[in-house]
Amino acid sequence: MRPLTAAAATAGALGAGAAAAAHIWARHVEIHRYTLREVELRILPPGARTRRVLHISDIHLMPRQPHKLAFLEHLATLNPHLVIDTGDNIASAASVPILAEALAPLLARPGAFVLGSNDLFAPHPKNPARYLLPDPRPAGITEPRDPTLPTGELVRRLTEFGWKDLTNTRASIELGGLEVRLVGVDDPHLERDEMPPRPDPEPPAPEHGNVLRVAVAHAPYRRVLDAFAADGADLMLAGHTHGGQLRLPGIGALVTNCDLPRRQARGASTWKGVPLNVSAGMGASPYSDYRLLTPPEATLLTLRAPRPLAHP
Ligand SMILES: [Fe+2]
Repeated sequence: MRPLTAAAATAGALGAGAAAAAHIWARHVEIHRYTLREVELRILPPGARTRRVLHISDIHLMPRQPHKLAFLEHLATLNPHLVIDTGDNIASAASVPILAEALAPLLARPGAFVLGSNDLFAPHPKNPARYLLPDPRPAGITEPRDPTLPTGELVRRLTEFGWKDLTNTRASIELGGLEVRLVGVDDPHLERDEMPPRPDPEPPAPEHGNVLRVAVAHAPYRRVLDAFAADGADLMLAGHTHGGQLRLPGIGALVTNCDLPRRQARGASTWKGVPLNVSAGMGASPYSDYRLLTPPEATLLTLRAPRPLAHP
């Protein structure tokens, strides 16, 4: 064998070995490395007490996922003041009661949610190369059709202790000294989003005067974020991207599965000056159950009032 051929063969073998190791890591190790991302934002009105908001997303729960259930149990110990769930909760009909049981301690707290496409339609195998297309959605996905999953039962279980369903609607939650005014839309990935009109006249300010406007969607398409910003949101929360699901060192996410810029595929950023948190989510489709350099996560947002001005 000539030296050049030997070197090429060695490089090829090393590359194949690295790819195999990355696959084993992504499929069997990182997919279980549940992480709590912590974000601090000074967006509360001056004088308002600090509040903790737990943002969960893209659980994609299947039966028999003990690591995921243990993480959900752990999240309840954080005692958040408010829970926001940005959808894609389940991946099978059998998951609904398991999800409701796992979420029970969080469902007992103030909360709100929107649904994602995977809360309506059972997953099926997809060609991963589709995600590199400008629009990765399969043909017909936006056509009106009935859910193939028990979405009604899922909504019943999510709302039975008081969580607000923000599907194309508004709601408010009083957190004792802070009124959270929420707006949400149905999944933009399915083009079911309809921005609810601003109430006219606006509801009167609460006696304590502290209002926080939070806008919630599953898939962070630009048109929706633009509408939320124009609506006066103080904070926007979304999921759907899975943080890119596969990230490469030095490059980051290759895709966002929507038109959000790749650099905003996960974590806190801003959109038109408004804080935006995109959760990388806790799971993935059972047909692509792997993650690379974007471990499954939930986010604990600590919201504070602005720092008092220093006296000279
Ligand atoms: Fe998802």
